[in-house]
Parts: sequence; C-alpha cells; structure tokens
Amino acid sequence: MLLTDKTTAEKFITASESYTSPNQRLFPLTAKVNEQNNLEIGGCDVTKLVEQFGSSLYILDEKTLRTSASQYRSAFEEYYSGESQVIYASKAWSCMAVVSILASEGIGFDVVSGGELYTTLKALEMSGFSSEDIEGKIYLHGNNKSIEELELAVDNDCKIIVDNQLELENLAKITTEKQKSVSILIRLTPGIECHTHEYIRTGSVDSKFGFNLHELDDVFNFIKAQNLIDCIGIHAHIGSQIFELEPHHDLGGVLADWFKKALDLGLPVTELNVGGGLGIRYTESDDPPSITEWVKTVSTAVTKACEDRGLALPKLISEPGRSMVATSCITAYTVGGRKIIPDVRTYVSVDGGMSDNPRPITYQSLYQAVVANKMTAEFTETVTIAGKHCESGDILIKNIDLPQTETGDILVVSATGAYNYSMASNYNRIARPAAILVNDGEASLIIRRESYQDLVRQDLLPSRLG
Ligand SMILES: Cc1ncc(COP(=O)(O)O)c(C=O)c1O
Repeated sequence: MLLTDKTTAEKFITASESYTSPNQRLFPLTAKVNEQNNLEIGGCDVTKLVEQFGSSLYILDEKTLRTSASQYRSAFEEYYSGESQVIYASKAWSCMAVVSILASEGIGFDVVSGGELYTTLKALEMSGFSSEDIEGKIYLHGNNKSIEELELAVDNDCKIIVDNQLELENLAKITTEKQKSVSILIRLTPGIECHTHEYIRTGSVDSKFGFNLHELDDVFNFIKAQNLIDCIGIHAHIGSQIFELEPHHDLGGVLADWFKKALDLGLPVTELNVGGGLGIRYTESDDPPSITEWVKTVSTAVTKACEDRGLALPKLISEPGRSMVATSCITAYTVGGRKIIPDVRTYVSVDGGMSDNPRPITYQSLYQAVVANKMTAEFTETVTIAGKHCESGDILIKNIDLPQTETGDILVVSATGAYNYSMASNYNRIARPAAILVNDGEASLIIRRESYQDLVRQDLLPSRLG
C-alpha cells in the first residue's frame, strides 16, 4: 500500500529547496539525489561515504555551516547599526574542524568548560589564527566554573560571563594573585518564559543559571569595588529551540534596563549579549523563523530599547549554537534486523542510537529520516527506528513512513549537527562514530572513529587484580 504519492526525494529534498535559511531546511543545502538515485551531500554519495568511512557516521556539510555563519553576520550588518559580534555556542558541537571553519567566517566562541576552551584555543592555533585575530572573541560561560577553568580563561585573555557571587569572589582572588585584569559580563535571569522543553529553558525565574534581578544592585556594587575586574556587559539567554520571536523582542527591554542601571552606577559596560536560542526544523511540521528574521527581531528590539532609554547602541553579541550547526549535519546508520509485532508495531534496528544521539531519549525530540539508497522509492511502510542499546527507550524515531527497508540499507537521520556528537557517550561501551566533512565532492575525516582500545584507554587495574 502506498502511504503517499511522493517519493523521499520529492517529499524532503525538493520541498526544502525554497528555504534559503539553513535552519529552516531538513537537509543540508547541498543535498540532492544523484543519478544512482542515492542521497548526495556536499557532492558525495552518502552510501559511498559509509563504504569508505564505516557506519554509523556523522557527515558535516561545510557549505551549509559556512552559509549559516555568513547569514548571521550579514543580517547583523544589515539590521544593526552598532557594532556586533556573533559567537558560536560551542556546546552544540565543539571540535577542531568546526572551530576552524567558523573562525574563518569571522565568528567568535562561547565555551562552557576548560575542555571546550582548550579545543577552541588548540583549533585556532593549529589553523594559524593569531592572537589579534581572536582577541576579545572568546567568552567563558558556566554556572560552576572551577578555579582552573577561570585561570585558563584569564591567562588567555578570554572574557568571562559571570554566573554567581562565588565566581566573582574567585575571580577577585585570581586577578589579584596574577595582577592581571579580566573583562566580565554579568549573566542575569530575565524572567522571560518561552515554550520549549523544560530542560532547555534557562531564562525563567526558576533557573540554575545567572543572577536573579533582585541581586543585581549588590552585584554591581561588589564589582565596582574591585580593581582588576572590568564589567563590560550584560548577558541573558532565554532557552533553546525557540520558534517564537516575542521572547527575544521582550529580552531587549529587560537587558537595556539593566545595561542602563550598570552605566548609572559607573560600570564601563559596552556589550549587550542576547544569548542564542533560535530553533531549527527537525521535522516537516516544525516552522522556525529564518536566521535573518531572528537577527532582525533582536536588532530592532535592542535598538528601540536603547533609543527609548537614551542609550548609545552597545556592541551586540549573540550566541547561536543549534541554528548555526544542526542542519549542516546528518547521521548515516546501517539497517540491521527487524521485529514485527502484528497489529502493534514494526521495529527496524540500526547500528547506533542513544549513544550518538541522546536527544530523543532525553528530550523526547523528534527527527526525520530517509533511506539514502532508496531516494526515489515509494513509501510503503510505517516503522519505528530502534537504536542498538540495551534500553527499551532507545528509539530514534517512532512511526516513520519509509520505503520498504532491508538489512544493509543506509538510513540517514537529518539535522544531527547540534547536541548529538557533543552529547554522545560510550553507553554500553559502544565506540563513538567518526565524523567527516564534505565539500565539493571531497570528504575528510574530522573525528576518528573510536576503537575498542580507546574504550579501555583510561581503565586501570589495581595490581592486586592483575
Ligand atoms: C548561555 C547559552 N548561550 C547560547 C546557547 C545556545 O543556544 P542554541 O543552541 O539554542 O542557539 C545556550 C544553549 O543552551 C546557552 O546556554
């Protein structure tokens, strides 16, 4: 029985072509169906990539990633008349190739740990960026930064987005000991609600992040008394995978109020950071605004809020993560067996799952998939895609319409660039997949596939057991 009169190619690839904003597309900009009727990304046949690099496999399309970066940058140039800087929220996917590509597009970096900071610094050094190229473009976040993380950031002249009083006190000690000043932004909890998953909502009053508004007067006064801590800005981030523009509009007003308050108290603030949060299309029914629409909303809101309060335009910082990288990447899996439960469900198993993509089991996130070697076949069955982990909840996609699948088919899940590799684990001691970068028909390995040796590399046996 046919489930729709369209083929995969018509339903997903052709249908996406009208969207030029990468975050609104299900598949990367370079996705097409080649003469063999296979899915092609970045000029490479996905089935051939799996033959060459193995399965499962993250496939990152360079053109889509660069397009997201340039759309963010050019939209700020068009809609914001003050200075602006886009910094990538590395937590979405921190690896050397992503850092190198985005840095070459003029993007800065928000890092949330010593590990992300180290990865960023290493990638920039190895890609030949000078300290002038990246000066003032790396920001350290986190609600419980260690002394070592703070020291690494201070030593490398990063700006620090301060989350709480303990951190301020630690920074006061570190800067005094080192006799080195640091530039900070204050993260505030703006009390703005948005409709997103509870775990990824960070701007409402009940959040572990940032200072609540009633604390700010004391915080500003504490900073004023410090010689080596310069408060250069105010920050807030209201959540992730947000489709509404209204919360970002409202945020402009809240931030401008506190920016003015800081100025009135004599703090030398010049930067206003609106965080990230723009959503992406994971499934056909998702309908996020474009990158340009989001930037326009943020820019107009901040401009108007500043004009209303008689403020000169601050340097406007934004921190997109998901919308920068998610739809640049797909994950290819190989289909294994199936379990048919008559009148209930058919499970089709693949050689990956919650260890390479923990979002479905963590956030009940929805995904779309296609069969890379059957792009022009008709949809004939509704199945559930099961991961290979020992966990009943390890389901990648429930009830998806697909062409008839067989063992050995290549199933491709779209929009896996954000919070997939970066949240991947070795659950069940499953080795993490490789990642490759594709562009103009060339494929390069950017993250090696883990081996069994990698899995035991950190294990030790006490001598009495050996
Ligand atoms: C402080 C901060 N900035 C930026 C981001 C990036 O958000 P998104 O990936 O939704 O753009 C996050 C993610 O939660 C965040 O916590």
